[in-house]
Amino acid sequence: MSKIESLSTEKRDAFIRLIAKHTGLEIRERDQIALSEKILSRIHTLRLNSPTVYFQLLESTTTESHEEWLELIVELTNIESYFFRDREQFSLLQNHIFPELLERKQNSRTIRICSAGCSSGEEPYSIAILLRKLIPNLEKWNLMILGVDINQAALKKAKTGIYSPWSFRSIDPETKQQYFQMVNNQYHIDQRIKNMVEFKTLNLIKDEFPRQNCEFRDVDLILCRNVFIYFETSAIAKVLNKFYQALQPLGYLLTGHAELSNQNLSQFQTKMFSESFIYQCPVCHPTDTPLKSPAYKSSTSSLEGLNNNLYLDENAFENEFEKSNIKMQQIAVNLLRQLPPDTRIQKLGNQTAAELILQIESELKATEQ
Ligand SMILES: C[S@@+](CC[C@H](N)C(=O)[O-])C[C@H]1O[C@@H](n2cnc3c(N)ncnc32)[C@H](O)[C@@H]1O
Repeated sequence: MSKIESLSTEKRDAFIRLIAKHTGLEIRERDQIALSEKILSRIHTLRLNSPTVYFQLLESTTTESHEEWLELIVELTNIESYFFRDREQFSLLQNHIFPELLERKQNSRTIRICSAGCSSGEEPYSIAILLRKLIPNLEKWNLMILGVDINQAALKKAKTGIYSPWSFRSIDPETKQQYFQMVNNQYHIDQRIKNMVEFKTLNLIKDEFPRQNCEFRDVDLILCRNVFIYFETSAIAKVLNKFYQALQPLGYLLTGHAELSNQNLSQFQTKMFSESFIYQCPVCHPTDTPLKSPAYKSSTSSLEGLNNNLYLDENAFENEFEKSNIKMQQIAVNLLRQLPPDTRIQKLGNQTAAELILQIESELKATEQ
């Protein structure tokens, strides 16, 4: 086979823009050499003779193009996941969000949940396990737990429900024993849990949702965690807009900590719990009006947009107030840790999150002495 020409900086940049447009993924500077290697490897596998031909293939709207994107995406995405990832957020779901939803949905007994960017399934299956524990008369409820992802290889694994010990870094031994069966050093998920979750291929950027014949609509809770960290800011805004349309009034959106720090969240109510932020659609939900100017353009104070719309969960917070000042300070530290360390908070003397953490921690130390 003839030697493939190497990838010039201009061509590499063109690929980077095309990938961002198609998937939302931001290829950071440190990953650009690896990207060139992946592209050259795909060109080699397809026996094409130049990066230009490969670029044209990706850019076209043919079936071949669609199939090639599926292959390339497997190379580009990070599919790291594990059961009950971020135990604090699972406590928030268990202690606040699901009890509220179960109470509110008592009449219809229907709850729709979507794990967007579900990877190999650990996240939606963790939700299924949690709901199985929380709802005694589960058979009387109509639950939809949908896992969607752009990576076909990850979804294939999700559908098998078979996991290596690495997926169990954050699960308690009882849950593991109760819902998994070990066969040849691999863990097979309980069939009852497997039956509760459905998986679909979906590109959050390119695919249209919500729409009538797509299950990603009228959702009560969207989990989209550790997905936006890989996205360009404008792509996050685009997906947030779709999430907003796909959520029911009072529906929730849970992302990874600080993943929305540069976004305009004015359409959502930001609810603050000691475990995590969560975003909620308002009661009055204009489903046919798209969000206006979604990207929040500020590089200094990412809390500005948030402050305007901050909703403190009264029960959670008042109780914490009653407990003690110390507890409040610990909560503040936890919340500050969810922001990028260099985030400046104007209302607190324009100090950075890192500076405030140091200050509160030294006050806490002084109280201990
Ligand atoms: C690091 S995993 C996160 C898995 C899980 N949510 C968690 O927190 O453990 C990120 C997932 O996002 C998916 N993803 C990336 N871009 C996507 C897109 N445009 N549409 C749908 N899924 C995407 C990747 O394929 C990958 O499986």
